[in-house]
Amino acid sequence: PSLPSPFPEALAAIAAHLPADSPLARPQWGIICGSGLAGLADTLQERIDVPYSAVPGFPPTTVEGHKSSLAFGFLHDSTGASSTRVPVVAALGRFHLYEGHSPQACVLPVRLMKLLGAKAVVVTNASGGLNPDYDVGTIVAMHDHLSLPTLGSLNPLIGHNVPLGPRFPATSDAYDVPLRLSFFRAARELSLFDSVASGTYAYVSGPSYESRAECKFLRSSGADCVGMSTVPEILAARHAGLRVLGISLVTNKVVVTPYFDAKAAIEREAKGEALEDQTGKDSKEAATHEEVLEVGMRRAEDVRRLVERTILSTPL
Ligand code: 6GU
Repeated sequence: PSLPSPFPEALAAIAAHLPADSPLARPQWGIICGSGLAGLADTLQERIDVPYSAVPGFPPTTVEGHKSSLAFGFLHDSTGASSTRVPVVAALGRFHLYEGHSPQACVLPVRLMKLLGAKAVVVTNASGGLNPDYDVGTIVAMHDHLSLPTLGSLNPLIGHNVPLGPRFPATSDAYDVPLRLSFFRAARELSLFDSVASGTYAYVSGPSYESRAECKFLRSSGADCVGMSTVPEILAARHAGLRVLGISLVTNKVVVTPYFDAKAAIEREAKGEALEDQTGKDSKEAATHEEVLEVGMRRAEDVRRLVERTILSTPL
């Protein structure tokens, strides 16, 4: 079965930017860079950027902290300890539901990675930590997901089955065990073992952050962190037979504070107690996009070194 538009057109446009006989035109790994993590492509050798605007079918990206190009290059050992080089393609900038993109648009980059020859993908994101054991800056290797949008019919695999995989793909085996072993081995070797964890990522559409009740709901359902991306790409990757490593950088802790008790306050007032100004008494520590980007910047180099070592130590 032949591929529908825009895949053939996109592949032709990308090929026109790359030397035809170079291994760069057949990347073995794809990397999808989350908020503040575009630095994953900073050390690529012989890098060639193909702007999204040059790729038919790619919608314009709109989020601050996300660039918009496919970066092709050789991943190499930036410590200089080995001379192994691996051709990779990194997506700098992704498409989110909250921007108004369709679930199908969200997975264009990962499907193109498959069509370009990739065998595995590393999908990264920034998330809020629900697990109280997670500190800000914890780097989580995903071992499962909890996805409300895709359970509720925003699944990117809905519709005509793109002929890259089966109609009904499994998701119970989505998070590749050898890749997770490579990740934790790399963390040990880089003395980052105390900063890494395994966890379940909850996917929500955003763009609003979660209410307190929603945070409690997600936590009690087994989620360790929560974010607005990654699961669509992982579903499309598994559909197409790609191996997957999902990495989530915890940029803020989700702390659920008690509700302000307005009834009790009025009870006190009725007993003649003076009510001081109650404004702001109910605010939970709200997540901000600035905080997400700031932690991303501080930890991005550690994430980059982990991804580099994981890829270089894992033959596909
Ligand atoms: Cl707290 N929630 C969501 N949905 N995404 C986030 C986040 C929180 N922190 C970073 N990304």
